[in-house]
Amino acid sequence: MNAPVARENLQGLDLLAEIQRLKKERNAVILAHYYQKPEIQDLADFVGDSLELSKRAAETDADVIAFCGVKFMAETAKILSPQKTVILPDMAAGCSLEDACPPGKFKAFREAHPDHIALTYINCSAEVKALSDIIVTSSSAETILSQIPPEQKIIFGPDRHLGGYLSRKFNRDMLLWPGVCIVHEAFSETELLKLKAQHRGVPVAAHPECPPHIIDHADYVGSTSGILQYAQTITGDTLIVATEPHIIHQMEKAEPTKTFIGAPGADGNCACNICPYMALNTMEKLYLALRDLQPQIHLDETVRLGAKKSLDRMLEMASGTVGKGDLGRA
Ligand code: 13P
Ligand code: SF4
Repeated sequence: MNAPVARENLQGLDLLAEIQRLKKERNAVILAHYYQKPEIQDLADFVGDSLELSKRAAETDADVIAFCGVKFMAETAKILSPQKTVILPDMAAGCSLEDACPPGKFKAFREAHPDHIALTYINCSAEVKALSDIIVTSSSAETILSQIPPEQKIIFGPDRHLGGYLSRKFNRDMLLWPGVCIVHEAFSETELLKLKAQHRGVPVAAHPECPPHIIDHADYVGSTSGILQYAQTITGDTLIVATEPHIIHQMEKAEPTKTFIGAPGADGNCACNICPYMALNTMEKLYLALRDLQPQIHLDETVRLGAKKSLDRMLEMASGTVGKGDLGRA
């Protein structure tokens, strides 16, 4: 159920002060993904990529986790910290990758390939996690894949671009589920090449959810935290960024003298690379969520325990990868 934001007049309220007050009152921690609006990133207790946020959610001693991200991220927090109240400002904040992988179809696919293990991207529902063997994020995928014996057959879902990238890099066949991120899918190769021609010698950093025709032009490929670190290591003063543009806020904070240019979409100037799901979270909805402790994540306990198994495998196998942005160049 969504927070009834439209029905309340919050005008005149100092939202930042109210959020801080409620956070104390509730003993809440605010976790935010790099794709959130700048004002939300700035008030969060921690901003990170999917793996870092999972770890924080597992470790926090707060009573309430206010998750400013999308639903699969808040569900992950609940799976790892079931005794805590987990709120998501807008329950409609989904993900095209999750939508592309309905649990029933995924289960049937697994049953059709009993000799394969399921290595599954964290961008999926709790049900799909429970049907999987090991979860990966973009910053842990490579470390985890390198620990799986070469003869072991693998189903990789739901992101066929991340799966394809890993498959090419590791020279390893995997059965790929046909999901895509609508945001990274929208980058235009033609427009990127025009931009590169205007900025000769400027490097490109890309998220592995990008299709291969974008990855092929990247100097660095990695998770959001990996891209952020790369932005701090380039020797030049400009970087082209092929991922959701709200991450540029953190880059500009870390490197105020450098210039970060968002990679273009199809008409060279569209807002199609802003994640429409992440954008649903607002200050107003965060305030209401903290005030009412709604909308809240609830999970069936059998599903939660199944999903926890595959997430715990990830956390064990990925130990040491946090913040390294370890995918590196293709
Ligand atoms: P990261 O784990 O790299 O932050 O990716 C999350 C995501 O949804 C990217 O679209
Ligand atoms: Fe999902 Fe793409 Fe949005 Fe990430 S950017 S949450 S993968 S739709």
